[in-house]
Amino acid sequence: MGARTFNSVALAVVAFAAAAAAANASPASSSSFGVGVSAYAFDDAAYSYCDADHPDDQAYKVVPDAKLELVQMVVRHGDRTPVHLIPNDNTTWTCDGVAENIYLNGAGQPETNTTGAFRQLIEIPSWSGKYGYANQVWRGTCDVGQLTDKGKSQHRMLGSKIRGIYVDKLGFLPAQLNGTDELYVRTTNVWRTKNSAESLLGALWPKRDIAPQTAIPFHTYPREIETMYGNTGACGKIKTLASKITDSEQFQVFLKDQGPLMAKLSGIFGVSGSDWDNTWDGYIDILQARHCHDIALPCNDRASISGKATPKCATAEDSAQVLRNSHYEYVFKFRDHPLSHSYLRLVIGSLLGTLKDQVQEHIAGKTGNLKFALYSGHDSTVAPLLAVLQASNRNMLWPPYASNLLFELWKKSDGSRVVRVIYNGQVLKLQPEFEWCDLNACPLDTFYKHLDEYIPDNIATECA
Ligand SMILES: *[C@@H]1O[C@H](CO)[C@@H](O)[C@H](O)[C@H]1NC(C)=O
Ligand SMILES: *[C@@H]1O[C@H](CO)[C@@H](O)[C@H](O)[C@H]1NC(C)=O
Ligand SMILES: *[C@@H]1O[C@H](CO)[C@@H](O)[C@H](O)[C@H]1NC(C)=O
Repeated sequence: MGARTFNSVALAVVAFAAAAAAANASPASSSSFGVGVSAYAFDDAAYSYCDADHPDDQAYKVVPDAKLELVQMVVRHGDRTPVHLIPNDNTTWTCDGVAENIYLNGAGQPETNTTGAFRQLIEIPSWSGKYGYANQVWRGTCDVGQLTDKGKSQHRMLGSKIRGIYVDKLGFLPAQLNGTDELYVRTTNVWRTKNSAESLLGALWPKRDIAPQTAIPFHTYPREIETMYGNTGACGKIKTLASKITDSEQFQVFLKDQGPLMAKLSGIFGVSGSDWDNTWDGYIDILQARHCHDIALPCNDRASISGKATPKCATAEDSAQVLRNSHYEYVFKFRDHPLSHSYLRLVIGSLLGTLKDQVQEHIAGKTGNLKFALYSGHDSTVAPLLAVLQASNRNMLWPPYASNLLFELWKKSDGSRVVRVIYNGQVLKLQPEFEWCDLNACPLDTFYKHLDEYIPDNIATECA
């Protein structure tokens, strides 16, 4: 388990970051910036990119002297195939066992107006075929960025834990679903996130527990106006700010230090361009997806074909270093740069506003029986939310597959309300120097006073 052994921390990165932070320490930028980054360490042996921890229904404890009112859950999709392709990829990805349902498995779709059952089958033609582009993708039966069997079972596990807590232990959610008054589901309009939501809900309310006429609506936005991650198409300023952050001296020192690794891997992968020279995003995708499936890491076959050089391969250590670099990149961009705050407002402020409005409407009694709201998204949904909360370094590690964030709203017997935040099974811990509330029971006012700093008054105006 390469990803689990972080012991040989990226000491060089930490050391140069500290040096750079010290050199840069102007009054304007030293407030939280230097402290956060220089203290950052990648030493969590319990972390695995491949699989997030989930809430433990046995260990789960209620907030004392309080009544649960609403649960909002934000998740990352489960294990998936890579989203970045590399030319002449000779690996094989198999998705034969993955039944692809567009609607909740077992939701008892109305029988009328249908002619039977349908199933999608991904086909990748033979590489030697005359009419296709087969060698521009891997072999096997998986689409790009598709949820795998493993990814589905991760979300089923999560759903069964949620049932264990909120149905079996607390009796907060109904054991059977008849209609969907208690439930709201929002997902990005991406196959893997819809499939993840479907798997989670399929375990939370198995077929036997759903009344025949109940079909659960999945609310989606068109991609052009999606707000569950930084929408660079709708908000050009996100890119401007991202460039300012990555152009900063400290990030450039980091890129330069790790430049030889980036050059080696981009050569092996046969990739180039702006998506590949100032971010580790594509590299972590290519390497971790394979790592999580014990698939051999890519080699440069062209070198052997041309006979000029022995093939070079990405190594497990390269992969581990890319993971460290990716952690560093996320915490730097999202949490610790002086512009992170403005950046987060545009990247995730709209979703935050949506979550807040839902709570306020709930308190005002305008949401009927709503009890559970699920938001199915991506690493780029979960990580910025964690950064807004100023999560600890440990919790800022790149969100693993099936990462899960719970916002619980509790009403105390004195009438006041508190919010509890649980991330991958634990009450979310904040970075000590940013500690602004105890997220085991944070007073609602304090909670929103903090979040309001990140919620735009008018996203369109702020993006202009
Ligand atoms: C790709 O994989 C196939 C099947 O494993 C193997 O026969 C072939 O030699 C490989 N091609 C290259 C270029 O490595
Ligand atoms: C669907 O089925 C119902 C009931 O059989 C029928 O009234 C309706 O016209 C059908 N709609 C379409 C679009 O075929
Ligand atoms: C679901 O609710 C409807 C409307 O109240 C009711 O007619 C129906 O019998 C219920 N179904 C089940 C399985 O409880």
